[in-house]
Amino acid sequence: MENEQDLLRDLSQKQDDELMLRPQYLNQYIGQTDVKEMLSVYIQAALKRGESLDHILLYGGPGLGKTTLAQIIANELGVNIKITSGPAIEKTGDLAALLTTLKQGDVLFIDEIHRLPRFVEEILYSAMEDYVLDIVLDKDNASRSIRIELPPFTLIGATTRFGDLSHPLRERFGAVLRLSYYSQEEIAMIVRRTSSVYGNEIEEEAVLELAKRSRGTPRIANRLFRRVRDFAEIMSDSVVTYKITELALSKLGIDNRGLDHADYMYLRGIIDRFNGGPVGVESLASTIGEEPGTIEEVYEPFLLQEGYIKRTPRGRVATELAYQVLGKKYYKGLLDT
Ligand SMILES: Nc1ncnc2c1ncn2[C@@H]1O[C@H](COP(=O)(O)OP(=O)(O)OP(=O)(O)O)[C@@H](O)[C@H]1O
Ligand SMILES: [Mg+2]
Repeated sequence: MENEQDLLRDLSQKQDDELMLRPQYLNQYIGQTDVKEMLSVYIQAALKRGESLDHILLYGGPGLGKTTLAQIIANELGVNIKITSGPAIEKTGDLAALLTTLKQGDVLFIDEIHRLPRFVEEILYSAMEDYVLDIVLDKDNASRSIRIELPPFTLIGATTRFGDLSHPLRERFGAVLRLSYYSQEEIAMIVRRTSSVYGNEIEEEAVLELAKRSRGTPRIANRLFRRVRDFAEIMSDSVVTYKITELALSKLGIDNRGLDHADYMYLRGIIDRFNGGPVGVESLASTIGEEPGTIEEVYEPFLLQEGYIKRTPRGRVATELAYQVLGKKYYKGLLDT
């Protein structure tokens, strides 16, 4: 029983931390300058016209700030936000229940929108376009449909897999905004902000070290910060020093390029088992015991961006840099075969 209470306390502490860390308004949201500029124009125009904001699709890798941005949009508009996710909507009734509670101008946020069941997606079309819900009631085979009028609302969809969205759905968004990886300077700003939210003093070298190893991803930066902070609280009166940061990160198995154990498994998989590639994601996935989806969404984007691997029509190929990292000899010309 006591354990359960501890667990609950822990959980609510975590949620509180999440809330504190989340920027509330556009001007507190670090980085993604282009996205913020566009959004700010759309939001001001909608407010000026007194209309609901056009539907918006946010896409980008895990932890880049899609959910945060959706909440910011609602805050800036001064409206309520209802939050759900693609897999959570199993029946048309689930969607209807959400849509009918919206007030004029409110935001409905659907996370992982690419995982919406197709028949749910289909009734979403008219909801997005004409603000009506057409629901078919199938009573004793005499099907009858009812139409429910909705107030104008804004749908914000988030996805890590743009390519998995159907065409008709994509086309119903007024704007598609792509979040990219953050620069080290931007991640450094996020780390400074996070440490001040937690009330920890942090050395500038520690900030830069964390920024270097966070894979351009705010969620990773915050997670690493919390782990380093644990060490700091025990070892140095809560001051996050460079030394403690180094120590904590090496204990976590994160090297100074931001690569972790899983990345090494991946690179070793291509180089040792498939001679550097090309290899298809399915074969690679089964070799290292990971889901193909996770590999594509979590590991590969960073490895591609940093130039450790390349994608070719015949599969993934390890680059010279990857060989270097593993301390292996690279045979020139491998890439052309
Ligand atoms: N631009 C930013 N400035 C400051 N903090 C940020 C920013 N973007 C994200 N964060 C922080 O990073 C964490 C992850 O962000 P968020 O949950 O919005 O990511 P996400 O893209 O929705 O991820 P997922 O795809 O897993 O749902 C949050 O704790 C948030 O506070
Ligand atoms: Mg999210």
